[in-house]
Amino acid sequence: MHTLVIGKYSCQIRPVRRTDILKIFEIEKRVFGDDKFDIILLRDLVQQSIQFVILEEETSGEMLGFCITMQINPQDLRGSNHHSAPQLPTTHIVNIAIDMPYQHHGLGKFLLQYCLDEMKKLGYQKVQLEVNTANWQAISLYKQFGFQQGEFLANYYRSGANAYRMEKLLQEN
Ligand SMILES: CC(C)(COP(=O)(O)OP(=O)(O)OC[C@H]1O[C@@H](n2cnc3c(N)ncnc32)[C@H](O)[C@@H]1OP(=O)(O)O)[C@@H](O)C(=O)NCCC(=O)NCCS
Repeated sequence: MHTLVIGKYSCQIRPVRRTDILKIFEIEKRVFGDDKFDIILLRDLVQQSIQFVILEEETSGEMLGFCITMQINPQDLRGSNHHSAPQLPTTHIVNIAIDMPYQHHGLGKFLLQYCLDEMKKLGYQKVQLEVNTANWQAISLYKQFGFQQGEFLANYYRSGANAYRMEKLLQEN
């Protein structure tokens, strides 16, 4: 278990459990609105992700946020702009969220750093993600961590919102 005191929060990161799904869905609804993941997808991700972790308050057990990462298969990279680049072992941050009341206290940074460190330990050399072009808080977080803004993806989200693909080489950290 990875623990750290951040401001007034004594936090720990642990692997997801199937019983967490409803709480995760509640956070999804609050932070992503129309672009939330549904419960079936969240259940599938518990099975398929390489890392699905929960950030919680140590004493109360309150869920503060979560992060989901998946492997990208080399064949999936071929269709994108990456066909000319060497295909490094790549991981994908499918979703990262800190619940509304706990945002802007440094928890997102803590969770993202943990996930990047874990991906590096697992041997991944590159990480990708997509972010809503209007989500400047998240874009600013990713840029702070050295992510480069890449491809523009029109109508990427269910709501019709656009996205940027962003990526980072993990050995740069
Ligand atoms: C994006 C998110 C994960 C960041 O987590 P957080 O705990 O709120 O962020 P932190 O307090 O750790 O701040 C980290 C950095 O994010 C950026 N940031 C976050 N909130 C910000 C705000 N209100 N204004 C400006 N920058 C902000 C800044 O770069 C900040 O670094 P700084 O404090 O050194 O300026 C969180 O706000 C969230 O869950 N948002 C909704 C879901 C989402 O958008 N997820 C990303 C999907 S791609």
